[in-house]
Amino acid sequence: MKKFILCLLVLTMVSGLVFAGGSKEKANQKVVGVAMPTQSSERWINDGANIKKQLEAKGYAVELQYAEDDVQLQVSQLENLIAKGVDCLVVAAIDSTALVNTLASAKQNGIPVIAYDRLLMDTDAVSYYATFDNKGVGTVIAKDIESKMGLKTAKAEGKSYTIEFFMGSPDDNNALFLYNGVMEVLKPYLDNGVLVCKTGRTSFEDTCILRWSQETAQQWCENYLAGFYADEKLDIACSAFDGFAYGIKAACEGAGYKVGVDWPYITGQDAELMATKNIIAGSQSSSIYKDTRLLASKCVTMVEAVLKGSQPEINDTTQYNNGKLVVPSYLCTPVAVDQSNYKEVIIDGGYYTAAQLGL
Ligand code: BGC
Repeated sequence: MKKFILCLLVLTMVSGLVFAGGSKEKANQKVVGVAMPTQSSERWINDGANIKKQLEAKGYAVELQYAEDDVQLQVSQLENLIAKGVDCLVVAAIDSTALVNTLASAKQNGIPVIAYDRLLMDTDAVSYYATFDNKGVGTVIAKDIESKMGLKTAKAEGKSYTIEFFMGSPDDNNALFLYNGVMEVLKPYLDNGVLVCKTGRTSFEDTCILRWSQETAQQWCENYLAGFYADEKLDIACSAFDGFAYGIKAACEGAGYKVGVDWPYITGQDAELMATKNIIAGSQSSSIYKDTRLLASKCVTMVEAVLKGSQPEINDTTQYNNGKLVVPSYLCTPVAVDQSNYKEVIIDGGYYTAAQLGL
C-alpha cells in the first residue's frame, strides 16, 4: 500500500512538472511577442500561424495577439507584451504611425522590434522590415490589367475601357506604394483616353479606403454603378485587396452584371481561399499571391539576427524610409494569379489543396 501511495505521489509530481513545462516558457527560452492587425482577413491568420510555427520550431516561445483593427487595442497589447518582458517584438501595425510612443518604450526596455509586412513609421525603434515589394504589388496588378485588356494596342484599335479604383488604407504605408505602382503603369492610359474613369476618382486621396473595409468598397461600387454606369458598363475594377473584390462582386451582382456576359475585370490582393475560388468561378479575375510562409521565414531570420547577432538576409536598403531611418528590408516577390496559373502556383506550391478549393 505504501508503495502504491508513493507511486501515486511520484506520478502526480511528474505530471505536475510536465504540465508546468507545457503551459509556461521553459527556463532561458526566449519569448517573441507577435502583434497582428486583424483576423477579419484570412491572410493575417495565416501570417500569425506561420510565424508562430516557424519560431516555435526554432525553440522560441510565441505570444501571438490580434487587435481586430482597433488601434488602441493594439497599443495596449504591445504595452502588455513589453511589461511582460518579451525578448523581441514582431509588429504588423494597424495604423503605421500610431505606435511611436509604444515602440519608444520597447526600445527603452531593450526589446528589439521587427516590422512585419507594414512599415512602422516615425520611429527609430525598428531594426528590420520583412515585407513584399509593395510598389511591385501595384505594378503587377496594373500589368495584369494591361495585358488582359490589351491596353498596349487599344489606342491603335480605337478601343477604350471604363475603370474605377479601390485603393488601400491611408494609414497603411503599403497602400500609397501600391497606388504608385498601379499608376506608374496605368496613368499613360488614363492620359491617352484608353482608360476612362467616369467618377473622375483617380487620386490616392479619392480612392483610398480606411482600414481596407470590404463594406466601404461595396458601398462605393454600388454608388458608382448607380450614379455613373447606367448607360455604359464598368469594364475594370482595379482593386488593391481581395476583400474589396468581394464587395465589388456583390455590388456588380446587385446591379445585374453577369459572369461571362458583361462582368468587369476585377483584381485583388492576397490570393485568399475565397478569392481563389472566385477566380476559378470567374467572378474575380486575378489576385496577387503573397506566400505568407516565405514572409514568415524572412521575419524569423530577422528575429534570430536581433537575438543572436547574426546577419539577416536584406535585399533593400533604399526604399523604406520611415521618417527616422531607412529600414533595412527584405522584399518578397508578389506573383499575379488567375485561371491560367493558379494550379501551378497555388496548388502545386502547397498553399491550398485542390480539396480546399472544392476541386
Ligand atoms: C497588406 C496586404 C493586405 C492589406 C489588407 C496590407 O498591408 O500588404 O497584403 O491585403 O494590408 O489586409
